[in-house]
Amino acid sequence: MQNNTFPTLFVGHNLIRLSSVGSTNDFLKMMLSNSEPLLEGTVIMADNQFAGRGQYSSSWQSEPGSNLTFSIFLKPGFVPLEKQFLLNMAVCVGINEVLCKLTPSGFSVKWPNDVYYQDRKVGGVLIENGVSERIISYSIVGIGINVNQQNFDGPGLAKAVSIGKILQQHVDLQDLLRQICGGIEAEYLKLKAGRQQDLHERYLSILYRRGITAQYEDKTGAFDGEITRVDERGVMFVKREGKDYEYRVKEIEFLP
Ligand code: BTN
Repeated sequence: MQNNTFPTLFVGHNLIRLSSVGSTNDFLKMMLSNSEPLLEGTVIMADNQFAGRGQYSSSWQSEPGSNLTFSIFLKPGFVPLEKQFLLNMAVCVGINEVLCKLTPSGFSVKWPNDVYYQDRKVGGVLIENGVSERIISYSIVGIGINVNQQNFDGPGLAKAVSIGKILQQHVDLQDLLRQICGGIEAEYLKLKAGRQQDLHERYLSILYRRGITAQYEDKTGAFDGEITRVDERGVMFVKREGKDYEYRVKEIEFLP
């Protein structure tokens, strides 16, 4: 389905809406393997995603018809491979800019790319890059946002919340999709224009628990620490007893 009502230059102009699919990321990957070239900014959204995937091989559960589950096709060949986390930053900042317009405080980004409201998870981002000769030839940016779902009963969903629950009102899915595509495109174009410093600072400014002493756990056990920054590789630095320690994904757990 073509939809030209998006307030964007290219993201979402080619919108394919599916009533049901396993995973929008997988569907996009399958489209890429077909011979037809795919337009940058193509968006695949699904009303029902029955085998949604999350980070670190987890699954992504979403009540059919209530939430946003979609994937954007990008070609960020201008992002150096060793700085690929800048793309995660652009996506998270773009989403956060839109959510902060709905209610001014409370939304943040939990490292590396969870969408948070206070201490609860509203959504997540799963970016899958294709790399050829050290160039990021394509990116599949998968986004799941809890929008109108009211009950989160399943395993691992204790921290989940939806925008509708936060605002106590029904939110129009198509309208939110358009806004989020616009927010992401704006940050992506800033990145393309070389404004990575701005983007990096903005990501740090909305980083969950940054500058606050809180409890974490690593392979040595639980400890009190303070997140100081995340670099362009996606490495998070946590200060502990006056010294900065580096963490990559899966090496540290946030304790309540
Ligand atoms: C996470 O927080 O673990 C990331 C969740 C990403 C879920 C989205 S929903 C659309 C896209 N398709 C998938 O299978 N996963 C992503």
